[in-house]
Amino acid sequence: MLVPTDGTDGTRIDPDPSERRLSGLYAYPEGATVRANMVTSVDGAAWGPDGRSGSINDAADWRVFRVLRALADVVLVGAGTARAEGYGPLGVPRGLGGLRRGDRPLEVAVVTGRGDVPPGLVTTDRAPYVLTSARGADAARRSVPADRVVAVGQDEVDLRAGLTALAGRGLRHVLCEGGPRLLGDLLADDLVDELCLTTTPRLIGPGPGRVVGPVGGPAPATVRDAHLAHLLHSRGTLLARWVRPIG
Ligand SMILES: NC(=O)c1ccc[n+]([C@@H]2O[C@H](COP(=O)([O-])OP(=O)(O)OC[C@H]3O[C@@H](n4cnc5c(N)ncnc54)[C@H](OP(=O)(O)O)[C@@H]3O)[C@@H](O)[C@H]2O)c1
Repeated sequence: MLVPTDGTDGTRIDPDPSERRLSGLYAYPEGATVRANMVTSVDGAAWGPDGRSGSINDAADWRVFRVLRALADVVLVGAGTARAEGYGPLGVPRGLGGLRRGDRPLEVAVVTGRGDVPPGLVTTDRAPYVLTSARGADAARRSVPADRVVAVGQDEVDLRAGLTALAGRGLRHVLCEGGPRLLGDLLADDLVDELCLTTTPRLIGPGPGRVVGPVGGPAPATVRDAHLAHLLHSRGTLLARWVRPIG
């Protein structure tokens, strides 16, 4: 059971195989949008004892996670996460195809500066897009067809150019599933329009990083505002949709 606290009606969002109500809360705005979806423990851990986020998330998070995938054109993911979490072929979550624009497949775009495409993504029928730099382009082309390699930037991946290239292929509704390094780089370049952040009622203690990496480095130069579009809760789990103010 999910309960919205968005100041509208406070009614419950009961389990629904088609997730119509939930998908309305997470509808993408007009135009190209980069949405990130992350989960954290109460004390800020981005992963649990097994080194994966699966050990800190829960059923409520999973429910929203599925809806976000169903609504996206492309899942953008860092190579580290794809390796750690064992990403393989991604499909539209079962039963949620009706939420999509048209009958487009759900694409994957993996970011790897070295052009080192995680093995689970190489063997899929539908190759991922690979956002890489000139440095990693040759290696990436050894793993996926050349038309799937987006080489942007010389040594570093130019994420803004990469997102523009995806939008040029009709992939305008981007869902970034992390990880922390990629989200940190997107935030540093002011490329994140929304952050869907789940906080689960767990305390992990020292060790793991937080949802934005890397830890350390110089103090940030800028503080940017975020507006709470809605907050859902379920048995102590908080699911927030934070959006950047318009204008
Ligand atoms: N809590 C959550 O919601 C959540 C979500 C996702 C992941 N995680 C966890 O986070 C951990 C992984 O963290 P991570 O920071 O290593 O993940 P990551 O950002 O997915 O991966 C880092 C790697 O991805 C590539 N990469 C990412 N951004 C890049 C950029 N701007 N330019 C060039 N290459 C880039 C690089 O790969 P190459 O070395 O191939 O160049 C880099 O080594 C795992 O434990 C995972 O379970 C947690």
